[in-house]
Amino acid sequence: MKKEIWAIGGGKGGTGKSVISALFAATAAKNGKKVIIIDGDLGGANLHSLLGVSSGKSSLNEFFEKKIPLSETLIETVIPDLALISGDMMSYNPLSVKYIQRLKFYRHIKELDADLIIIDLGAGTALNTIDSFLLADKMVLVTTPEITSIENLYIFVKKIIVRKIKDMLDYEGFKEIDKSILLDIPKGAESIKFTEFLEKLKGLGKEQEKIVSQGLESLTVNLVLNQIREKKYAQYGISLKSVLKRHFNIDALFSGYFEYNESILKLVSGDSDIETVMIDKKISESVNFITKNISSGSDVNFNELK
Ligand SMILES: Nc1ncnc2c1ncn2[C@@H]1O[C@H](COP(=O)(O)OP(=O)(O)OP(=O)(O)O)[C@@H](O)[C@H]1O
Ligand SMILES: [Mg+2]
Repeated sequence: MKKEIWAIGGGKGGTGKSVISALFAATAAKNGKKVIIIDGDLGGANLHSLLGVSSGKSSLNEFFEKKIPLSETLIETVIPDLALISGDMMSYNPLSVKYIQRLKFYRHIKELDADLIIIDLGAGTALNTIDSFLLADKMVLVTTPEITSIENLYIFVKKIIVRKIKDMLDYEGFKEIDKSILLDIPKGAESIKFTEFLEKLKGLGKEQEKIVSQGLESLTVNLVLNQIREKKYAQYGISLKSVLKRHFNIDALFSGYFEYNESILKLVSGDSDIETVMIDKKISESVNFITKNISSGSDVNFNELK
């Protein structure tokens, strides 16, 4: 079985990244895979509580501060074959992570022994978050249909594109040219200037243009909508996909959606547990549908949303 890394991000806080990461990971483990889930929310970790692990334990702290290999910091969860690498809210300062340590962190993630590694990213667009997202084989973006959530998603996508292009240009030896252009990157969610920015990058020269186009071609994101209260909102997935293509020139696959569901609320408030939530029919159907789409690179059909 080929090892895969999935990163779950999206920018906005509270959209459901942690819940969805936990459901994906627990379901894959139940289906016989060896799974590791990483709480990449370095400053506000809460995955442990969703997975029945006491909050006292921290792995990332051991890794970053005590230099213990990442593979030795796995914590067992209530689900067999699902191990957790946990952040630590109390004693860990995410801003203190040095560049070299971050590189080591990414290398160790890739070396972990598992069939599936799921990284639950925190809110926001810190460099750690963007780089962890880009290292994944499957990049999953979670959003609710709320406008603020969608705007945050655009900002997130913009950051990953810029980072990816910069990495590629750096790697190919074009270290200097990006500096002035990167200053022009529009802030916020607007995208018109962003297309100009892309054109500018392309105008740098034939070779650079090729690098930029290849960089964008290799970026395919998987969209998951969450907290859908009425089916009509699920169609946002289709429009989001075309907006990402039109304004950001990247391919997005709409992998599916989760309805707003009271049993998820109970899980987060501690009145239920992950195993109970996993057997909720609606939830398990959505998890299976979405993860199958992500694995196979397939997409929601518009007719399925009617
Ligand atoms: N499908 C859903 N139905 C009902 N409530 C949901 C659903 N998904 C998430 N929630 C609720 O939304 C809240 C946020 O969920 P979660 O912690 O997974 O978000 P997050 O994206 O990981 O947030 P953060 O960025 O702060 O880490 C929780 O209270 C959870 O109960
Ligand atoms: Mg979270």
